Amino acid sequence: MLDHQQQRRLDDLFDAMKAANESFLGYPFAKGFSYESLWRFMNFSGNNVGDPFGPETYRVSSRLLECEVVEFFAGLFRAPPSETWGYVTNGGTEGNTYGLYLGRELYPNAVAYFSRDTHYSVSKAIRLLRLEHVVVRAEPSGEIAYEDLAQQAIRSRQRPAIVVANIGTTMKEGKDDIKKIRQALHDVGVEEVYIHSDAALCGPYAPFQTPRTPFDFLDGADSIMLSGHKFFGAPIPCGVVLARKQHVQRVLQTANYIGSSDTTLSGSRSAYTPVILWYAIRSLGIEGIKRMFEQCVGLAAYTVDELKARGMSAWRNPSALTVVLPPVEEYVRIKWQIVTQDVSHLVITPGTTKAQIDALVESMTIDNRRLDGHIL
Ligand SMILES: Cc1ncc(COP(=O)(O)O)c(C=O)c1O
Repeated sequence: MLDHQQQRRLDDLFDAMKAANESFLGYPFAKGFSYESLWRFMNFSGNNVGDPFGPETYRVSSRLLECEVVEFFAGLFRAPPSETWGYVTNGGTEGNTYGLYLGRELYPNAVAYFSRDTHYSVSKAIRLLRLEHVVVRAEPSGEIAYEDLAQQAIRSRQRPAIVVANIGTTMKEGKDDIKKIRQALHDVGVEEVYIHSDAALCGPYAPFQTPRTPFDFLDGADSIMLSGHKFFGAPIPCGVVLARKQHVQRVLQTANYIGSSDTTLSGSRSAYTPVILWYAIRSLGIEGIKRMFEQCVGLAAYTVDELKARGMSAWRNPSALTVVLPPVEEYVRIKWQIVTQDVSHLVITPGTTKAQIDALVESMTIDNRRLDGHIL
């Protein structure tokens, strides 16, 4: 039982998180979702330990639904059904690490390539796995520079390549075309290539974008990951990683303690996040996901128009949800929790409202006027 002061601390924390949730536009996390009907599951020590598709000793798990989640994304990413495997991860970082792990087990002598605009989780995984690597130039759009990839790969053309393709870079939502990556490497004589698609944000909607960037299994990916808490939104971070079964078989170990194969990176895994993702995909369906994406695209286009109409240079990649702009002032950055590197960005996720965009544009305009000396 909490005393009055402790209860107060919880209430204060709740109020602070609620207020922060209403004023962020710089991170790719959905808002306004509701999973209240799943609260009853929180009374169990749910744990999906081990391979979701294998036998289990511990049955306080949601592995049946986890398998359905994996199968749903395998279908969306045009994977050959009997040749693909996957699981629900703790997030995008685990998915990237897993993809690179499979690549390294297939090609221990490989050189890893990824663009300068790649998420920091990739260089962390590269360090963990002790992979030799080369950072490739990125175009201003965020897309990898294919000629630079080819130039860099010439030096190690005798060795296999492991490439992380960005299916939406973190800052600009630039996309790398995995067919062009394979072609660039083939042209300089690199024949053994493993491609991991990092589709953290865009995975759920990349299949519906026009133009559609080649990124999935039919296009030639060996593994793909997406984050569950980004486009769908989830109260607990999560993700999905999928891979060709033949690669997974190489890392499989038997674990008697759990009565299952040890194919996943984490041992104990959440039983709640698979239920959350299952609930999201089943309640939305493909048509619902498309609709949600189209609403976001409409609002992203509106955001660019509104900013440009006020003289600010804002842009986005074709049908992207990320609006890129020059670094914003500190006041705006703090108020709207906006990430700023060489550029700032806004991400128009499900649940973002026109009223929030209007308020942001207004606060940027006021700030500009102040800087121009109109207010000060
Ligand atoms: C492109 C990309 N990959 C990977 C990640 C890592 O995802 P997570 O934060 O779920 O570990 C992110 C997170 O923002 C990302 O933008």
